[in-house]
Amino acid sequence: MNLTVQSVLRWLEDCQGITICGQEIKWGRVKTIFKGTEGNRSVFVKIGITEEAKKEVLMNKNGYDKMREIGAGNYTPNPRFVEFQGVPIIIMDDCGENLFDMLKGAVNPRSIFDRICEELWHLYRITKIKGGAEESLENSFRILEEQFSRYLSVYEPFSANQRLLKEIRKKIFRVRSPFICFAFWNFTPEDMCLSTSGLKIIDPPGCVVGLPMIDLACFAGSVRDASKLPGAEYGYDLLKKLASDAGEMLGLKPKDTEFLFNFGRAVQCSLSARYRIGEEDGLSKKFFVEAKEFLAKCLSQRN
Ligand SMILES: Nc1ncnc2c1ncn2[C@@H]1O[C@H](COP(=O)(O)OP(=O)(O)O)[C@@H](O)[C@H]1O
Ligand SMILES: [Mg+2]
Repeated sequence: MNLTVQSVLRWLEDCQGITICGQEIKWGRVKTIFKGTEGNRSVFVKIGITEEAKKEVLMNKNGYDKMREIGAGNYTPNPRFVEFQGVPIIIMDDCGENLFDMLKGAVNPRSIFDRICEELWHLYRITKIKGGAEESLENSFRILEEQFSRYLSVYEPFSANQRLLKEIRKKIFRVRSPFICFAFWNFTPEDMCLSTSGLKIIDPPGCVVGLPMIDLACFAGSVRDASKLPGAEYGYDLLKKLASDAGEMLGLKPKDTEFLFNFGRAVQCSLSARYRIGEEDGLSKKFFVEAKEFLAKCLSQRN
């Protein structure tokens, strides 16, 4: 822990009444996340100390503000934003184990998937609004493209896939959605908690509306194929069904919902491939091949 972090922690203690009681959370992109208490309340504190962490914390703040604006405030960890000498800080409820850890140790993982899907369905319904999904679709596409151009070129030169990606991009923007709702592409089990007061989304990006079939596909693929979590075969089917129901609720054609689900799976596979590059079990290459298969599926679908 360097001096600057120490001084922020001291300030939190002296001026915000927060007692830091845990070690910092060592994993994730922002390493300066601490557990603490504020009176009787158990809290998490996320501190934007480096330039990268600052961006991340401000992005989360933006995401939480937007979640409140669209009526999804109950799904946030009740964050409070403070700043100390230019360092942005989020103080929020401790929502308990994230879904990855919760599922890993679950006695009845199916009931957890049931609850997640019920809560998400409610969230989608209450946040349904008229509007375009361009920003979120563009974000998702950029993530996919970045994996192919910056990382997965270890398997195949980017130029070999440029045409394929161009076709996919064209097809994405042909999707017509009269409505949008709560959504963001990076729906991983580490960024959600099922607390005693319900589902909580932690670590949101700045854009939190769009078409959730992409998120659900990422989440489904991540729990079943990438992390092989207990109950995930059951969970996958449930999440896929939820994607189809959400598509119908938002007024999409079934073929567009299916397209977005396959696209979401391609995004997830490309990320699963990227994060495993260099490992010796061959899984990275397997996910790369699978990402391309999902993209091919997207293109082979009739318009
Ligand atoms: N409010 C919270 N309640 C419970 N756990 C949290 C909370 N905030 C963060 N965590 C834990 O810390 C991990 C990293 O936090 P996150 O905000 O996702 O950071 P990163 O941007 O590094 O991914 C989460 O995956 C979760 O396990
Ligand atoms: Mg995270």
